Amino acid sequence: MSILLPTDEAIDLAVQALRSGKLIGLPTETVYGIGANALDRDAVLATFRLKGRPADNPLIVHVSSLEQVQQIASSIPTFAYDLARAFWPGPLTLVLPKQPTISNEVTAGLNTVAVRVPSHPVALKILTRADIPVSAPSANTFMSLSPTRAEHIEQKIQDGLACVIDGGACEIGIESTVVDCSSTYPVVLRPGVISREQIEGVVGQVGNEAPRQRKSPGTYPRHYSPVTPVRIVERLERKDSGIVFSIPLNERQIQLPIDPLIAASLLYASLYALDRMNLSEILIQAPRDLPEWEAFWDRIRKAAG
Ligand code: TXA
Ligand code: MG
Repeated sequence: MSILLPTDEAIDLAVQALRSGKLIGLPTETVYGIGANALDRDAVLATFRLKGRPADNPLIVHVSSLEQVQQIASSIPTFAYDLARAFWPGPLTLVLPKQPTISNEVTAGLNTVAVRVPSHPVALKILTRADIPVSAPSANTFMSLSPTRAEHIEQKIQDGLACVIDGGACEIGIESTVVDCSSTYPVVLRPGVISREQIEGVVGQVGNEAPRQRKSPGTYPRHYSPVTPVRIVERLERKDSGIVFSIPLNERQIQLPIDPLIAASLLYASLYALDRMNLSEILIQAPRDLPEWEAFWDRIRKAAG
């Protein structure tokens, strides 16, 4: 396995690998993914095995255009079209009723399929050239940190990939917003940098997941965690290590800017760096409890378990 710069040749290699049922590491604007031909049951099963992911946790299918979604989803409500037009290509995943072409392995037996058009130019190039729907969960083992740089992909995962295409540091840095569009009104299943307010701006009222139990099976309370235990605190002392929004008091404190989008884009890379410092605990300074910090809060809560 090798990490390749996104030259034409490398992209062709990745496309050939996908088409022959192999797995690849691909950059997206959110996090790196493990790409597989979503129409190839064996490749999809290999993805679950490589991640150590339970079979009841469905995958997101990535396509290059809204037109391609019609081959995957059996029906697309008007509000889903509106969301797609507003935010694609980009960090938004729509859950739609599935076509029979999409196997139960991809959707974990659900009659819905999650789909998105990523905006990363390398991902789009791969998807366009491959001309197949590509399932891509984050390129981490189950419950660990999602990689936001090619070199953050664990060796164990890299060993199962035909290649990794290096698209640089992911601009968004946390996983896409997942919106269920399979019922009469949209419901946010996983918050992301496309906020509830932005979605409401397009479709009006948006529901919460709470009334429907675990509609998104992958949303476990502990998730996206480094190996080192994580705790959220009001402020860090001079002896503490972790993430701060104030001036760092030692070299084991990483400062994030008080900007929810920039902070999100640096969160996993910061946790990754801290995880390699052999600490007994990583502390994260709590940001303000405001709507624009919802996705950041979601990920740090999951990191803290
Ligand atoms: O940003 C992202 O979405 C990244 C990049 C690689 O695109 N992918 C990603 O995939 O985060 P993954 O597998 O780590 O997370 C998929 C999420 C899970 O929470 C899963 O439960 C939800 O999407 N999901 C997938 N299919 C679903 C469905 N049919 N119904 C409800 N939730 C679904
Ligand atoms: Mg994931």
